[in-house]
Amino acid sequence: MSVTIEARLKPDYGGSLQEAIPVLRDWVTTNYGTLSLGQTLDGGDIMGTLAENIERLVVSDTSEGDALRGVATSTAKIRVHPYKYFKSPPQTVEIPMGNEAGDCCPTVLMHELPSVNFAATWDQLFFEPDIKPALLRFVTSILIFSDRGVSLDCVSWNRIILLHGGAGSGKTTLCRALAQKVAMRSFSKFNRTVLLEINTKTLLSRWFAESSKLVDALFNWIHTQTASAPDQFFCIMIDEVESLASSRRAAASANEPADAIRIVNSLLTSLDRLKCRRNVLILTTSNLLEVIDTAFLDRVDLCQHVAAPSLVATYSILLSCMQELIRCGIIIPENEEVCTLTSKKQPFRSCSSFPCRRRLNFGLFKRRLTYKGAFHEAVGVSTTKFSLSRIQASLYDYNMAHVFKTVRPDLPSSKLLAVAAQAKGLSGRALRRIPLLMHATSVEDESMGLSSALDAMRLVVEAEQKSARLAVVANKEVNSTI
Ligand SMILES: Nc1ncnc2c1ncn2[C@@H]1O[C@H](COP(=O)(O)OP(=O)(O)OP(=O)(O)O)[C@@H](O)[C@H]1O
Ligand SMILES: [Mg+2]
Repeated sequence: MSVTIEARLKPDYGGSLQEAIPVLRDWVTTNYGTLSLGQTLDGGDIMGTLAENIERLVVSDTSEGDALRGVATSTAKIRVHPYKYFKSPPQTVEIPMGNEAGDCCPTVLMHELPSVNFAATWDQLFFEPDIKPALLRFVTSILIFSDRGVSLDCVSWNRIILLHGGAGSGKTTLCRALAQKVAMRSFSKFNRTVLLEINTKTLLSRWFAESSKLVDALFNWIHTQTASAPDQFFCIMIDEVESLASSRRAAASANEPADAIRIVNSLLTSLDRLKCRRNVLILTTSNLLEVIDTAFLDRVDLCQHVAAPSLVATYSILLSCMQELIRCGIIIPENEEVCTLTSKKQPFRSCSSFPCRRRLNFGLFKRRLTYKGAFHEAVGVSTTKFSLSRIQASLYDYNMAHVFKTVRPDLPSSKLLAVAAQAKGLSGRALRRIPLLMHATSVEDESMGLSSALDAMRLVVEAEQKSARLAVVANKEVNSTI
């Protein structure tokens, strides 16, 4: 059993991150009997300068997933990852081409990680429960293999991850979020982590044989950077990799210029050169897996399908949007909708994630829950063990919404669940657009009540589903005429 804790320190903390690890680990095992996924720890009583510098301590994953009972700290392996955020905006880097410059110059977008710009990205992505842990486990194994110096002659790996799936399923965002996680988890091992987003458009020249030279120049630059800074970690992201790695066989049979073949060859040889670099991870995405060259696919170590959101993911995306609009005062929860799960005596006093109570306005939680019995029966835990962060105002998380959907269909979370079911098949991108459409189509004033927002959301989802169906029909017609 294992528990991973991410410890965010203040940006100006000057102490050693390595030394912070055992201190935090001991403090956790002394103060917490069990830990659950997502739990925020109150580090107020940590001793010394470290205490003043801790911004956030959170359980980011456990071997038990999101099981309610948590993991016993006495028997679990506790991993602590201290990190600090960088605030600098991303920079565009132009790769020098020397005398070979045509009218193109490859560019990459460089982010210093962990970046405050990606602070919420990982938590705001909702997939099937196994995807994010599988990716994290995979990058952790890569870091461990590199760290221990496992011989490439014996065990072969290329440090390449490919995320593939439909448009708007979250592949690009997940790559950035994963790079951020890598940075957080390798902060104490590498002095610096950067994400280099390759701008593939700047590698495709209209001049014959020029594109493969651009690919070579770019990867030579990456090779030099990674070799000259072994204490830095480089996440290299190639979004829509099919534009560089499309099938050579198809190019040859379509009588296309040999240029396409040269680009793939350059890419493959460049990737082979990079695989010995222990400080490199290559993150790629595609929504056209079928056109990618088999030699590239063969080099991919983890090929992960990213599907359109399931019902749980759809609900969670819509819920996060609603919570954001409530936070910004665009949606106002009406009084009668505000209720929470509390026990009659001292609510949440025994909850280990109690620190979150400080952030909540208890005035909102006046109504006592009358259907506690139904909840107990369905979930099988005492309400006092529930983290307040799960019980935001009147909108519950998926499990709770599911419990209440038949006993209280009038609750906002039950209505939101119905909207989520209706939104089946819409991409994550389409779902995240819904709040804006909802506001634009229904509000005369700047803000709206929660009930009206949910009604408006239902209408927008209906309209989106209709236009998605029309788009499918139009696509079929176009394909049949080609
Ligand atoms: N599963 C998801 N959970 C939460 N948000 C999502 C999800 N999928 C997509 N989104 C949101 O949709 C938007 C678009 O996502 P992104 O650009 O990563 O998709 P993509 O798969 O790369 O699409 P494309 O194939 O068109 O490039 C982002 O704002 C992202 O946060
Ligand atoms: Mg994308």
